[in-house]
Amino acid sequence: MTILVTGGAGYIGSHTCLALLEAGHDVIVADNLSNSNFNNLERVQQIAQKKIVFYKIDVTDELKLGSIFENHTIDGVIHFAGFKAVGESVEKPIAYYYNNLVSTLILAKICIEYNVEKFVFSSSATVYGENKSPFLEMMTLLPTTNPYGETKAMCERILMDIVKANPSLSVSILRYFNPVGAHESGLIGEVPNGIPNNLMPYITQVARGELSNLSVFGNDFPTFDGTGVRDYIHVCDLAEGHVAALDKLRTGVHTYNLGTGIGTSVIQLIEVFEKVTGEKIPYQIVSRRAGDIAECYADVKKAKEELRWTAKRSIADMCRDAWHFEKSRQDNYNY
Ligand code: NAD
Ligand code: UFG
Repeated sequence: MTILVTGGAGYIGSHTCLALLEAGHDVIVADNLSNSNFNNLERVQQIAQKKIVFYKIDVTDELKLGSIFENHTIDGVIHFAGFKAVGESVEKPIAYYYNNLVSTLILAKICIEYNVEKFVFSSSATVYGENKSPFLEMMTLLPTTNPYGETKAMCERILMDIVKANPSLSVSILRYFNPVGAHESGLIGEVPNGIPNNLMPYITQVARGELSNLSVFGNDFPTFDGTGVRDYIHVCDLAEGHVAALDKLRTGVHTYNLGTGIGTSVIQLIEVFEKVTGEKIPYQIVSRRAGDIAECYADVKKAKEELRWTAKRSIADMCRDAWHFEKSRQDNYNY
């Protein structure tokens, strides 16, 4: 198939483009490079030894997006493009609601105009809000604490209404848990802007000596060691989940958790990282971060049964590959 990947130059998008090429698909990327670099796609092409067609466009630009559909026969789309920083979304709600909602609306509108019926959407486990883990796809979504999370919940609802009115569409909503790690080559991975907000990139930058120590946000959560528990998933497993979702698309809207089903605490992740890499991660316990929940992990039965997909890589693999990428980008690349 020929797949249009919006936001394909970004962290999850670049790994997914690679998985798509490796599965034999042709890939077209539409990305405005607002949070990424074209080098990522050059490296994807280098690893896969295959070409990607690239358009530097904003997905909210209907004319430019439409011209891609005019010039290519597209079989399906994967929509990654969007803003994703939880804290920033509180500061800039208009930018978040505009970019995330309008890009989804325009992409869906053009898909319908050009009879492109396969649509995969990047959602987030954050839409479960304060439900109790393990999160099941059929749970009622609870309010999230930030505009970013609300954009994902709203896009899910918008897609459901669009499918009601256009029943020949096949939409897969993928709720990601905590994507971490990098491709084993060390050529592509996550490059956060400024000081990382997320745990794994923060740990790798402490290991590299760029940051002096890690703040662990709270050790008084009702979890087995008091620190926050999350379902970390290797980004390459996540990427393969998209290929599976695309292969198994069927009419209607179908929602899947993409996680491992295993909860890991902050302290456990630090310990595995130290063991796998031999690097020491100095840390201090500080108070909880606003909006953090105690536990967030997936029930993964639905993806396993319907997509025939399960995450294969371990926490040790995630730590090893995240660290390999951090060292490679320091040694070899100018990001
Ligand atoms: P990313 O920022 O690395 O990638 C997003 C890409 O979209 C970037 O390349 C950016 O330049 C591009 N983009 C943004 N707005 C655009 C627009 N209007 N037009 C064209 N391109 C645009 O983020 P990521 O981590 O790869 O996340 C991809 C998707 O997955 C996002 O929708 C995000 O909300 C979702 N998600 C991410 C996580 C996570 O922890 N990384 C978790 C859950 C869901
Ligand atoms: N944490 C620390 N110190 C840090 C950073 C994080 O202790 O410096 C802790 C957090 O309190 C949490 C855990 O590490 O317990 C994971 O935090 P992350 O910031 O890495 O990830 P979150 O679970 O908070 O959020 C991520 C994405 C969101 C997405 C959510 C859905 O950033 O976009 O997963 O699962 F919505």
